[in-house]
Amino acid sequence: MKVKPDFSRCVFASNNRGKLAEVQAVLGPLGLTIVAQSELGIDSAAETAATFAGNALLKARHAARRSGLPAIADDSGLCVDALGGRPGVQSARYAGTDASDADNVRKLLAELRGVPADQRQARFHCAAVLVTPDDSIEPVLAEDEWHGVILLEPAGTGGFGYDPVFYDPAIGKGAAELTTDEKNTVSHRGKALRLLASRLKRVAPGNFNDHR
Ligand code: IMP
Repeated sequence: MKVKPDFSRCVFASNNRGKLAEVQAVLGPLGLTIVAQSELGIDSAAETAATFAGNALLKARHAARRSGLPAIADDSGLCVDALGGRPGVQSARYAGTDASDADNVRKLLAELRGVPADQRQARFHCAAVLVTPDDSIEPVLAEDEWHGVILLEPAGTGGFGYDPVFYDPAIGKGAAELTTDEKNTVSHRGKALRLLASRLKRVAPGNFNDHR
């Protein structure tokens, strides 16, 4: 028999502290306590799917199975027009399997050397998914994007990943110049998570603080 799901404590299927802070800022106010999988001793799942949504599902299912808790995963990345959409799903591993954020940014700027300012369009993509350990609800999936351009050199000290070289012309700021709340208002992850929350409220009503 399937038990009514309890979302008060969820595991986040990532060890990325930057992502975790953004997820907690959006989902915490709904009454969800989000625990990083590393705090529960859960290893990372292999990201072998060809799409963001496919990888998000792999990660969430792995964490839900290991923890016995509802699991939220985010698979995200940067797609650069001048690079035919790369690094895409390979964003975390762009400069190699153990690449740091700084390595990836360096490689990106090197590949874009000589590409003029009006041809540096890019977008962040986020697929966010929630699954329950016993599949008592269908996986809830939400995706969104953040459009901007790649700077010629890093700017700002906030965020993580490619934030220092991503600039949003609509707000006139770089991603690394935004606070977590400002970034969540406009970012791929903030928008995808709000969509995920609204879909989750529909499939599992009565589980959340509904003032947002
Ligand atoms: P994954 O989802 O764990 O495969 O990793 C996504 C990778 O994409 C991160 O390691 C970052 O390099 C990049 N990325 C995803 N979202 C963001 C963001 O909000 N800012 C900067 N980089 C990001």
